Amino acid sequence: MRGYFGKKTATAMALMATTSMAYANDVEVLHWWTSGGEAAALNVLKDDLAGQNIGWQDMPVAGGGGTQAMTVLRARVTSGNPPTAVQMLGFDITDWAMEGALADLNGVASDGGWAEVVPAALQQFAVYEDQWVSVPVNVHSTNWVWANKAIMDELGLSEPQTWDEFVAAMQAAQDAGYVGLAHGGQPWQDATIFDGVAMGVGGPEFYQSAFVDLDEDALGSDTMKEAFDRMGVLRGFVDDNFSGRDWNLASAMVINQEAAFQVMGDWAKGEFLNAGKVPGEDFLCFRLPGSQDQVTFNSDQFAMFSQGDAVSAEQAALAEAILSPSFQIAFNKVKGSVPARTDLDASDLDACGQRAYEEFRAAAASGNLYGSMAHGHANPAAVKNAMYDVITAHFNGEFDSATAVEELVTAVDIAK
Ligand code: GAL
Repeated sequence: MRGYFGKKTATAMALMATTSMAYANDVEVLHWWTSGGEAAALNVLKDDLAGQNIGWQDMPVAGGGGTQAMTVLRARVTSGNPPTAVQMLGFDITDWAMEGALADLNGVASDGGWAEVVPAALQQFAVYEDQWVSVPVNVHSTNWVWANKAIMDELGLSEPQTWDEFVAAMQAAQDAGYVGLAHGGQPWQDATIFDGVAMGVGGPEFYQSAFVDLDEDALGSDTMKEAFDRMGVLRGFVDDNFSGRDWNLASAMVINQEAAFQVMGDWAKGEFLNAGKVPGEDFLCFRLPGSQDQVTFNSDQFAMFSQGDAVSAEQAALAEAILSPSFQIAFNKVKGSVPARTDLDASDLDACGQRAYEEFRAAAASGNLYGSMAHGHANPAAVKNAMYDVITAHFNGEFDSATAVEELVTAVDIAK
């Protein structure tokens, strides 16, 4: 029996279930949205569901980038007790779909016309063997710089257009007593910077060849060495306490005018907004110089874990709510990301969000969306983690750039 009877029936069932049995129609969601800005965005979803009498059982697992969350998920599924839905990225969705662990969302996808509005780059992960297995919540991108405008104004700095101008700006900030680059020394954060640095050094063809195709020549190239050299330059602008710092605490350094810049995905914007900061007045957003014409993206999706032999009414209602136009704007406005569907009016998003949405739509239309290596959209976790290890070892000074390139080729060859 299909668990999804279509929109009105599912909602009616959810309503009846709520009326007759408290908690019968809760959804348990495993996620890693635990920072201030992330929690504020999540509340938009919780409130949206509450409006449909769908309760929320929270299953937060702290740890940026979701590594810890995926470990907890594996334990939950292994014990035969999967959550209703799980925040998940890229190839992690594909891996779970291959295990047959995910529910069939084709009914709600068909009713919602998802195929027409969700771009192919997201469907690559949301659809497995012609079955929708997850619902895209948003689209983030990683090749962003977040800048404290007061520091830039004080030092007479304009938005850097080239890598050399960016380095000079960080140097000016450091010379003036500020932290040049706010950063948290964690592998996923080091790799997040590497996305934009590599894209900026070698461009999209290099990025595709090295991180998506795992071409050994690209991985072992002088271009890759230059990317590691640039990471070494950035290492010179972080503060002495960067190691292990959570990403949102690095964002707070820029928000509080202790640091001039942070290179981070646009979830960082959610922290600025949550702190009451205004883009263009308190902070600037710009693509990492060199990568201006590109988008290294990652989409947060909610994968629905099978609770029986068909998608449940609650899962279908959750999925339908997530891709509704009104929710897509309300959520992404707070989260710092852009909508996962390309047919919306973005005028309610702030200036950074409108720019990001236009760049996303243009890249999606022209086939120029490049999956973030750092956030699981270029290759499966084994390869991603192998890259993490080399990038972080180099950032921490264990390898010089030439050695890092050799280590990268070896590590990827073993992992793929
Ligand atoms: C990313 C995720 C974002 C944000 C970030 C920091 O992987 O897509 O939504 O959670 O990690 O944790």
